[in-house]
Amino acid sequence: MPIGITALGTYAPTRVLTNKDLEGMFDTSDEWIVSRTGIRERHLSGEGEFASDMGVRAVNDLLARYPGVLDGVDLVVCATSSPDAYFPSTAALIAGQVGLNGAGALDVSVACSGFVYALSVAQGMLLAGTARKALVLGAEVLSKIVDWTDRSTCILFGDGAGAAVVEEVPEGYGFQSFVLGADSVGGPSLYKFAVADRIPGVPVGEGNMMLGMNGREVFKFAVRVLSDSGEKAMNKAGLKGSDIDWMVPHQANVRIIESACQRFGVSMDKTVVNLDRYGNTSTASVPLALREALDDGRIQDGDQLLLVAFGGGLSWGAGAMKWYGGAGKRAAAQEQESDQELVVQ
Ligand code: UT7
Repeated sequence: MPIGITALGTYAPTRVLTNKDLEGMFDTSDEWIVSRTGIRERHLSGEGEFASDMGVRAVNDLLARYPGVLDGVDLVVCATSSPDAYFPSTAALIAGQVGLNGAGALDVSVACSGFVYALSVAQGMLLAGTARKALVLGAEVLSKIVDWTDRSTCILFGDGAGAAVVEEVPEGYGFQSFVLGADSVGGPSLYKFAVADRIPGVPVGEGNMMLGMNGREVFKFAVRVLSDSGEKAMNKAGLKGSDIDWMVPHQANVRIIESACQRFGVSMDKTVVNLDRYGNTSTASVPLALREALDDGRIQDGDQLLLVAFGGGLSWGAGAMKWYGGAGKRAAAQEQESDQELVVQ
């Protein structure tokens, strides 16, 4: 039974923080940030807004695009690096607010690789018969866990969310392969403390409670795993670089994406990049990029996609899929029909 994404909604807060704004906050420059990362601005949540709020708004967008699409959802999986609480899970909080109380709900904690992991978790649970239809989210308020006095990290991150419906799709569409991995040796390069002020490899007392990162180490790791895991996901699905219509990578740094593309022979023209306007939104970055490329018509029904992501853990996740645009077309046709009915009335 092929499983795939049939609907996708996203949300980014309206408040925008530009590189120019950052110049007024500490010693940095638009030129430094753009040349080192490609990022020009990021969206920030308001004071009382958290990951579940981002997720609920992404679901509202989903419902506006595909009315009734949550009917039958019996599983909610939320990938997040900045959950509202340890528990209740952010997934349960979102489920409660979007009319899915009673559905199975769990969070996936794999930092920025989380959305790809969550898709694979949902696919597994659907194939096992545990659930029939899943809502998979990536929801973040990274701006609330970065240290705004650390100029080498806070310039990178932004807030937002994506919400996807995952269910059975027609033969020839959907997920073809997933490759997931983690290597705790690299853990100290990207971390956020929780209960224990202790992570193997991070000198005791060195970390404050905000996100900690060794940018250079993460950079080298990212270039390697993006291409390696992407390659493995393609091999597993019997694909080669030239088969890929669109690569949708985690949006962390355009230099990482360029180097990875070079390593495994996918052209930048076939790669979706929108980090200039969002920064790194962790688990929300892949759905935000995917939605943008659907909206502007780059990604079409039947396109061969490759999703690749990396993050804290250190972790990585890649997935090959044939995009199923059928549900979107149906929703658009329904909308047209109801518009016509309104005109007739
Ligand atoms: O989802 C995964 C999240 N993490 C990542 O993707 C991080 C991957 N790494 C990176 O993107 C890059 O390593 C950074 C953008 C974080 C840093 O770029 P870099 O080219 O590796 O710079 P660097 O850390 O080697 O720092 C170079 C210089 C340093 O000054 P000195 O020591 O050479 O005098 C930094 O202090 O740049 C300085 N610097 C800054 N200057 C202006 C660091 N941050 C800034 C800043 N503005 N915001």
